[in-house]
Amino acid sequence: MIKRVLPYMRKYRINAFLSPVAMVLEVLADIGVPFLMSRIVDVGIKTRDIDYVVRTAVLMIVVALLGMLMGILSSFMGAKAGYGFAAELRQAAYRKIQTYSFANIDEMSVPSLITRLTTDCNLVGQVTMMTLRMAVRAPSMMVFALIMAANLNAELAKIFVVAIPLVFTLFAVIFRKVHPMFRKIQEKIDGINAITREDLAGIRVIKSFNRQDYEAARFDERNADLMDSTIRAVMWIILLFPIMNLIVYSVIISALWFGGHQIVAGTMLSGELMAFTTYIGQIMMSLMMVSMYIMMATRGRASLARIIEVLDVNSEIIESEDPLKSVADGSVSFFDVCFRYPGYRDDILKDINLAIRSGECIGIIGSTGSSKSTLVQMIPRLYDVSHGEVLVGGKNVKEYDIQTLRDEVAVVLQKNTLVTGTIRSNMKWGDENASDKEIIRALKQAQAWEFVSGYEDGLEHRVEQGGGNFSGGQRQRLTIARALIKKPKILILDDSTSAVDMATDAKLRKTFSEELDGITTIIVAQRIASIEDSDRIIVMERGAVESVGTHEELLGKSAIYREIYESQKGGIAQ
Ligand SMILES: Nc1ncnc2c1ncn2[C@@H]1O[C@H](COP(=O)(O)OP(=O)(O)O)[C@@H](O)[C@H]1O
Ligand SMILES: [Mg+2]
Repeated sequence: MIKRVLPYMRKYRINAFLSPVAMVLEVLADIGVPFLMSRIVDVGIKTRDIDYVVRTAVLMIVVALLGMLMGILSSFMGAKAGYGFAAELRQAAYRKIQTYSFANIDEMSVPSLITRLTTDCNLVGQVTMMTLRMAVRAPSMMVFALIMAANLNAELAKIFVVAIPLVFTLFAVIFRKVHPMFRKIQEKIDGINAITREDLAGIRVIKSFNRQDYEAARFDERNADLMDSTIRAVMWIILLFPIMNLIVYSVIISALWFGGHQIVAGTMLSGELMAFTTYIGQIMMSLMMVSMYIMMATRGRASLARIIEVLDVNSEIIESEDPLKSVADGSVSFFDVCFRYPGYRDDILKDINLAIRSGECIGIIGSTGSSKSTLVQMIPRLYDVSHGEVLVGGKNVKEYDIQTLRDEVAVVLQKNTLVTGTIRSNMKWGDENASDKEIIRALKQAQAWEFVSGYEDGLEHRVEQGGGNFSGGQRQRLTIARALIKKPKILILDDSTSAVDMATDAKLRKTFSEELDGITTIIVAQRIASIEDSDRIIVMERGAVESVGTHEELLGKSAIYREIYESQKGGIAQ
């Protein structure tokens, strides 16, 4: 796992190397100070050698200051390496997500991706920093302090033979208890994130259905659950501290007891005992640090695994080795196309065979859930077919360079939105270099200029997140304009005029037939009126093509089409 992510540390490798080095130097200083202190007591004070005391004290201060400096350097470089590494990982994961196919996104789910990019990356940064510092500090401190303690008094150092295994056992017991708890907590945080996202994104719907109380209760429940689990886990950790203190003080008392006897017997000096007790504190602190580190590291490991999952997704959509860079014409064919959404068992598209000529105007109609949206998403290769082939311009869509294909096949998705910015910045999504003249032309074609020209700031008019400051129909017309700016060979509108009034819808169609000559247009619609003048109409039913023909032909041969027609005609006549 480490090997997989090590390259992301490259940029910070100097920091990552120097931070532990500085840490070891700090530890050496921390170990040296008590030793020098014991020399002051045992040699300087005992022999009343003021000169020795002053010299040693100055040396001690210098060592302590150097240690402090090293500590600061180590923290600084450790933080830089840890959080820098996390930032690199986050960026890599973000880039990777941009290459995801729709199928990949369905599979990973957006809330989970957000948690991975935020919480998980942060935790990995924190643990990396701890690894560079604590994971170096604690063991080296322990080893050095043990050596010093054994050197001072091997007899007395036997205390550790009892104390260290005792502490390790205590940690092992608590760790086994707490570790699974932390795993659960992480999952619960994921759950809360998911529900928070869903509820806040849909806050308007929740309010309009008056479901606040229900949703708040649902949230409360999970929130309380998370709190309970966290408290339970933290209780165990808190328990560590008093027990640990008990052990530390017991060890110090026994050291004083046995050491005191040795001093009386003359086999130990009092300064030595002083230093010895300091080493006890350092060794015990290190043990504590190791256990804390292990606890954090296991959480960090889980987070790292979740980030690697993001990085390791194989984008469904694989570009061919030598991709085609141009699309010959706007023809579209389906050969025996079957499709199912990843992770589902049923075919959503069943044996679709279609041949659409370049420049043709095609209408698609059918009940909701009849797979109209799924069908059209195959053309710009937003999903890859499970079986069969989709051809655009006579070539399999898999042979094209993705960008070329999507530039030539413009789709206005049913769930389309605008992004924060201005109308102009949104339009430039279609073509970065579009001039205002071109933008206005597209807005006129999409029947959007009539309201955009009414704004005082025109193209500079602000677009809020998701285009929330426009009506449904206005938003639809803006997204159509955005697609038109691409000057595609194939234009697909998936239910993109559902919120537009009849008169505007009619104007749109008129413009399309007059101005978009030569462009293949595929219009998915609910209203017969929106598609009845199409060259041909495809009737979809439960994932299959029920029939194909002109309005008149279908009225004759398609029962479903007739039914839709009758229901809508009746609706208007009333
Ligand atoms: N992202 C998805 N993941 C899984 N199933 C989906 C997804 N999108 C659509 N479906 C399913 O595919 C079927 C067809 O949906 P869709 O193509 O949107 O129909 P239409 O556009 O005709 O209303 C529906 O049964 C729907 O539940
Ligand atoms: Mg649809």
